[in-house]
Amino acid sequence: MNHFELKGGELACEDVALSTIAAAVGTPVYVYSSATLVRHFTVLRDALTGAGLKDPLIAFAVKANPNVAVLRTLAQAGAGADVVSEGEIRRALAAGVPPERIVFSGVGKSAGEIEFALKAGVAEINLESEPELDLVSAIGQRLGKRAAVAIRVNPDVEAGGHAKISTGKAENKFGVSLAEAERLYAKASNLPGAPPVGVACHIGSQITDLAPMEAAFAKMRALVERLRGEGLSVERLDLGGGLGAPYFNAPTPPDPADYAAMIARTMKGLGDIQFAFEPGRMIAANAGVLVSRVQHIHERPEGRKFLVLDAAMNDLLRPAMYDAYHDIRPVNPRPSDEKGGEPVVYDVVGPICETGDTFTRDRALPPLKAGDLVAFMTAGAYGAAMSSEYNSRLLVPEVLVKGDQYAVIRPRPTYDDMLAREANAPWLS
Ligand code: LLP
Repeated sequence: MNHFELKGGELACEDVALSTIAAAVGTPVYVYSSATLVRHFTVLRDALTGAGLKDPLIAFAVKANPNVAVLRTLAQAGAGADVVSEGEIRRALAAGVPPERIVFSGVGKSAGEIEFALKAGVAEINLESEPELDLVSAIGQRLGKRAAVAIRVNPDVEAGGHAKISTGKAENKFGVSLAEAERLYAKASNLPGAPPVGVACHIGSQITDLAPMEAAFAKMRALVERLRGEGLSVERLDLGGGLGAPYFNAPTPPDPADYAAMIARTMKGLGDIQFAFEPGRMIAANAGVLVSRVQHIHERPEGRKFLVLDAAMNDLLRPAMYDAYHDIRPVNPRPSDEKGGEPVVYDVVGPICETGDTFTRDRALPPLKAGDLVAFMTAGAYGAAMSSEYNSRLLVPEVLVKGDQYAVIRPRPTYDDMLAREANAPWLS
């Protein structure tokens, strides 16, 4: 469930009409609902604790939506942060996430980033390879700060979903095999600067079937038991993120209660262990929309109708990158739309100079005209997070709503801001 509904005949985020925000901030603009963010976090936490997993660490995957105000909203609800760079650690800290609720993941952490994480006192560093283990231990020893580490395992299961976001097969770059994990865990326990506290896995994103997760989690459980059998202590099991969000035309993602029940079943009798999770999309996707204005409708005499928006692939990359489907709704539907008036089939495109800047082809929508506002639904995760200034378009602004209040949480820069970031080369003066 989310908090984007028709109110007084127009699409609103909680109690604020999207047209009010569009008029004040301009378009394109991302709009997030605090209530939806908190609700999704709470639903997941209650499902996990309700299934008997005590005190789970739910570390929101910052990459899904790194805006500090969004992170602060979640931190105040009790969320931790799953981060993959120094920038994300800084964002999480700026948002008030306690370091002991920060998990540092990622395939290629630099020495500088590891040092920063150690000094910040993050809860856990998830290691993806042996060189990384050696590096973390050496830096930990040099700084006199022992980082609690977890070994990220690649459980070699097919999670389904788009190939570009599937991570759990042996051919993907993430983590080490189960056998390697056992060796590295034992090695880490003998190193001076990297005491192992747990094992971690994350098999992909937008997963809509619990079976591959269950298969992976069963392998993780067996690994914990083998490690413990060797006399090693395993205090934490990080099961990653990956639960899908409902994108309207896609398979319905599993209910968090079923996800939690599956974990409780798979882990029954494992003994004392803290579970950690790294959800991104299931918390943020439905908590955000991208509002855009129709520039004009370009109608080809041969029949194709292009709905040309002021948003483009630089603002919302997912359709171009993953062929992702986002529901598109008129912000101010006309009474005839509600009566199921005759839809029009559009190709919905942005102004960028490449064919990839097509949000969707042959989409049946209510009739629209220049100046109308539309909302791309389910855009709160990996939306603004992946935006850029391609074609020198200004970075898209973000707005956070709470009840009947809203605040601009990332203003649209000016063209001067954009140009001021660059410098001349002396020989060009
Ligand atoms: N943990 C790790 C180690 C990850 O790599 C990811 C996502 C997550 C957690 C969060 O996964 P989630 O719960 O959001 O599925 N840009 C793509 C998604 C990339 C996901 C990358 N890793 C998209 O727009 O679909």
